[in-house]
Amino acid sequence: MSEKKIPRVALPDGVRLDTLAVREGLPRSQWGENSEALFLTSSFVQPDAASAAARFANEEEAFIYSRFTNPTVMMMERRLAALEGTEACIATSSGMAAILLLAMGLLKAGDHVVCSQSVFGSTIMLLGREFGKFGVETTFVAQTDVDAWRRAVRPATKLLFAESPTNPLTEVCDIRALARIARDAGAWLAVDNCFCTPALQRPVQYGADLIVHSGTKYLDGQGRVIAGAICCSEALVNEKFMPVMRSAGMSLSPFNAWVVLKGLETLAIRMRAQSESALALARWLEQQPMVERVYHPGLPSHPQHALAMAQQAGQGGAVVSFIVRGQDDGGPARARQNAFHVIDRTQICSITANLGDTKTTITHPASTSHGRLTEEQRQAAGITQGMVRVAVGLEHPDDLKADLLRGLGSL
Ligand SMILES: Cc1ncc(COP(=O)(O)O)c(C=O)c1O
Repeated sequence: MSEKKIPRVALPDGVRLDTLAVREGLPRSQWGENSEALFLTSSFVQPDAASAAARFANEEEAFIYSRFTNPTVMMMERRLAALEGTEACIATSSGMAAILLLAMGLLKAGDHVVCSQSVFGSTIMLLGREFGKFGVETTFVAQTDVDAWRRAVRPATKLLFAESPTNPLTEVCDIRALARIARDAGAWLAVDNCFCTPALQRPVQYGADLIVHSGTKYLDGQGRVIAGAICCSEALVNEKFMPVMRSAGMSLSPFNAWVVLKGLETLAIRMRAQSESALALARWLEQQPMVERVYHPGLPSHPQHALAMAQQAGQGGAVVSFIVRGQDDGGPARARQNAFHVIDRTQICSITANLGDTKTTITHPASTSHGRLTEEQRQAAGITQGMVRVAVGLEHPDDLKADLLRGLGSL
């Protein structure tokens, strides 16, 4: 970019992630605040007309206008980039805005994308339907079938897009294998790291080029704001994404950036605690007579257990899904009734489709997040009427077991 750069925080070489999570950002202002300042301003005053001209021409790095430059947003971007191990980060107004910016920045008409068929539903709609209107074609493949990813690649393929683990089945993809396919094809690999966060998984270590986040989930971690980000090289931010951000303005508000910035300080301890509680709950659910199947990458019964343990720092993450019995004797209608019974008997869990909160959330994917699919599509995706998803928070795991037992024990 420019000769004159925005200064960095002075930190000793080699400080660890836990330290970066609370210290990376921007140097303190002249007032010496200990907690990071919230710069709630739409524009920045320039010292003189010549400086303004140099700054608008990118000859000098400085804050100009909060659609594309703001100190609080930059603190969050620098902190998240440090955690993901990328050179840079660009924050967006939501997780979907991050995927929109990714596609607008990297793709043009005639380009082809290979995407897991198990990614978040709106990602499927955005890439498959919305970008289809602009001549970008997307092929959806089975998340865990590496050969299917390879076979789907064409000369026009520019992007491979994966999410691991997925929602609600917690399917894990082999990021290293996908990175090899992308490299051989001359394409980028983007990974939505929403479910693990850099506290458990750093996709760049396995060769991913870009990491996408919904900051709405674990990065904030307390269900307060909508936010998103792309972490990648400085060149991609400057050349591909910043020009789109400047023109299209899917920017993160400084207030929401500040909330996420402070959320990052406790990310690692929250993720470890919530992931351990989720595993305890998953093990307990496997013992319950009214539970047919449990999905959690930390369980040895999970099909990609070994891969998940290697890729996710030995942790399964905080989301557990399970299937309540009922389908065998009463078909899908009974299975749904039983799942609703378990959800409705809870007194602690919040019935909401969001996840990544310190408050445990419980939902019925077939009628909420995946309600727009046909029954056949849902069955093919393994999202049956008996499935319940729990995104485990910070309550005591024994209280959560008792909460689920209210319904499971009275079926
Ligand atoms: C894996 C994943 N990616 C992206 C998103 C979109 O994020 P947002 O709601 O912040 O737009 C979500 C939201 O649920 C998600 O679960």
